[in-house]
Amino acid sequence: MSQQAMDDMNQAEHVLGIEQAQGLGHALGTESLIETEHGIDKEKAFRDEQAIEPGKAFEPVIVGFLCNWCSYAGADLAGTSRLSYPTNLRVIRVMCSGRVDPGLMLEPFLRGADGVMVLGCHPADCHYLTGNYQAEQRVFCVRAVLEHLGIESGRLYLDWVSASEGARFAELVMEFAHQVKRLGPIGGRESREGLPLPEFMRRVQVAKRVTEGEKFRWLVGRRKALLEEENVYKEQLPGRRFHDLMSFVVVEECLRAAIELLTEEGPMSVKDMAETLGVSARKVLEHTAYLKKFGFLELHDVIGCSPRYVSLKHRLSKGERQEGFCLMSL
Ligand code: FES
Repeated sequence: MSQQAMDDMNQAEHVLGIEQAQGLGHALGTESLIETEHGIDKEKAFRDEQAIEPGKAFEPVIVGFLCNWCSYAGADLAGTSRLSYPTNLRVIRVMCSGRVDPGLMLEPFLRGADGVMVLGCHPADCHYLTGNYQAEQRVFCVRAVLEHLGIESGRLYLDWVSASEGARFAELVMEFAHQVKRLGPIGGRESREGLPLPEFMRRVQVAKRVTEGEKFRWLVGRRKALLEEENVYKEQLPGRRFHDLMSFVVVEECLRAAIELLTEEGPMSVKDMAETLGVSARKVLEHTAYLKKFGFLELHDVIGCSPRYVSLKHRLSKGERQEGFCLMSL
């Protein structure tokens, strides 16, 4: 990578740290939520955006991450060429589509967006060489997680727009807005998923945790290499095997993330968790033991014959001290 590209990337990191958080808030009109914990005040965030007045057609809120060097310039061109495109799009400029973290792709949903677009340079045109390829891997895998959780993967969209393609930009925004309209608002009976809003949000939170997890990130990062390059034994992983591996990780990690979220709300028994999540108690017990072993959960109390577990985060948020545990020692 050239020095210029390195400098640009450093600048991008700086810009991302500040602008993305602010941009997301401004884009959705939820600036006050930037500092808040997810879920605390979400209701307010989408009340303004999602409230559909009776008799008024649903207008989706779409957040678009546009790479600085091509897509954003393409959007600019669409504007200066006076091309019309739906006003549903809230643009967030990023230095490269490869800088959009999987978790960040899901964040807009938690803040009330109905669809998310990631637009980058055409393949081989990325200013940082491989950023758009990385974005492609990420979107592919995030969509797999959404599908597993019963959320329409069509709500997340990736495409390429060059600086000279103002008309293409307008066209893509129009097409995606129509697509999201067909999917309906997030949560509620009108949505394609048919999930109540709190359940939709819970699933997005689960998805976000999974995409921020180590195993998922490792697979995403290695996907291209695993599928296209040979290992030290001159073997190449068949696409089907990768798909199976990814499915296994997604299923396991989704369940673990769901257990973590439940136990963050308060102590819960394996039986109650299994009922809430609609999976067997044996499966939940297996994951509870795993999470306990690695210090994410701990035994809270035993009611009758049922042990109840609680997330460590829950205990710390309640200000309870854990013996022998000191944050400073980490
Ligand atoms: S700079 Fe546009 S996708 Fe990387």
